[in-house]
Amino acid sequence: MDPRRTDYLEAEALYSEQSLRIGESYVMHEWERPLIRRMVDDLALTHKDEVLEVGFGMGISATMIQQALPARHTIVEPHPTVLQRAREWKSGRLGVQLVPGYWQSLEGTHKRFSAIFFDPFSDDMGSVIEENLGFIKFASQSLLNDGGRLAMFCIHPWLDEQYQQHIFRFYRRVEISPVHVKVRETEDPTLQSEGRMISVILHK
Ligand SMILES: C[S@@+](CC[C@H](N)C(=O)[O-])C[C@H]1O[C@@H](n2cnc3c(N)ncnc32)[C@H](O)[C@@H]1O
Repeated sequence: MDPRRTDYLEAEALYSEQSLRIGESYVMHEWERPLIRRMVDDLALTHKDEVLEVGFGMGISATMIQQALPARHTIVEPHPTVLQRAREWKSGRLGVQLVPGYWQSLEGTHKRFSAIFFDPFSDDMGSVIEENLGFIKFASQSLLNDGGRLAMFCIHPWLDEQYQQHIFRFYRRVEISPVHVKVRETEDPTLQSEGRMISVILHK
């Protein structure tokens, strides 16, 4: 999401059992759970990890990350209603820090992490690749410790060439796992690949 966007922050956020909708867009779905599970498992978190999570959404990944009892768990989230949900979720959990704002606001901070879970949202599909490539580079240069890992995913079962070029420039190893999701209730974003996606772990 373009960090200059204020309309997104003003749009109404509606939670249901099955999804999170903000304005006209579905931002997160319960059916994405197997993908999130795969990504968190592939990160192989331990209690020594200092984790950065980008985007709280429905808190599905946040809850799974907490099961590893990481030393620190920082969540960056821009939407006020989602942040309020995250504050309620955080209650009673130790080592969790909420940072209001877009991930782009982390530029210039000096915190370093051993693991990153990257799952933001954008309703502007044209800018998604650019944002993801920007984060892949920024995470390697400014957020991850040496040996740190970044979890992300692709909505189809292959890694686009633009990603490969960036990844091979800024990381030393890539792990890919296939995941099959069953899309329900909304327009199918995986139409091209019939629910087959990949979890991608980048090792700095
Ligand atoms: C797909 S949801 C995250 C779902 C979450 N992983 C879960 O398991 O429920 C995306 C979240 O990222 C937030 N977001 C959008 N743009 C962002 C950005 N640039 N930086 C950080 N968070 C962002 C959205 O407000 C939303 O809460």
